[in-house]
Amino acid sequence: MDQNQRSHDKPTIDVANADLLLSTTRSVRKRLDFERPVERETLLECLELAVQAPTASNRQLWRWMIVTDPELKTKIADIYREQGMDYLRNGLADSEADGDSSQLRVKDSALYLAENFERAPAYVIPCIEEDLAGKSGTASIGTLGSIIQAGWSFQLALRARGLGSTWTTLHLGDAKAVADLLGIPAGVTQVALIPVAYTKGTSFRPAKRPPVTEITHWNHWGGRHGRLGPFGSPSPGGRR
Ligand SMILES: Cc1cc2nc3c(=O)[nH]c(=O)nc-3n(C[C@H](O)[C@H](O)[C@H](O)COP(=O)(O)O)c2cc1C
Repeated sequence: MDQNQRSHDKPTIDVANADLLLSTTRSVRKRLDFERPVERETLLECLELAVQAPTASNRQLWRWMIVTDPELKTKIADIYREQGMDYLRNGLADSEADGDSSQLRVKDSALYLAENFERAPAYVIPCIEEDLAGKSGTASIGTLGSIIQAGWSFQLALRARGLGSTWTTLHLGDAKAVADLLGIPAGVTQVALIPVAYTKGTSFRPAKRPPVTEITHWNHWGGRHGRLGPFGSPSPGGRR
């Protein structure tokens, strides 16, 4: 076996740690530490990792807006609340009526974040220098896919460094008001508003999710049992 072959075989990723990161990066709201400042360098380091994400046609049109100015944060928080408070309160009431405890926790936590939004030390707004207006479905998916993947990488990088975040979108109901406030030019699309802070404690659990076997289709929609062929591809007989 030559040297190249040997280094190819060697695992270079600590799978247990990678899996821990992927399974415990949660939407953090009530455990954001609003009192602890977030360093500029840490945000930039996480963005350096984020921009390793793929983009359609390798166009790399991600743009990042970071807001730390207290006055601007408060104005943006007000826009977030104007757009989202009714939705969040109604959602909470619905979950109470349904007795759905996991949804109730999410809604209660979302309301808490909305009420305290300006207290997050930094907001990060992932943007893409493209306009969705007039685009076909396929083109829009390409545009959004070229920033959302980087956004999630950013959140993973934060988590690995003891910070937490939540992907929020409620302000997008009036994205223009935020754009005007921050001087974001026309033609630049905001896709989220991510409040960032260190977390209180660093231990988070995986979320309860449906078994993937129930939501995965093999070869045909409704195909439940994929049996792998000799080279790892689902075998033709693996439909049910
Ligand atoms: C596209 C998208 C939009 C979201 N918008 C909001 C939002 O505006 N406000 C909020 O508090 N959470 C928002 N979330 C977070 C979800 O509510 C969150 O993923 C859900 O509560 C599950 O929590 P978990 O990530 O800890 O499993 C959003 C998540 C996604 C993926």
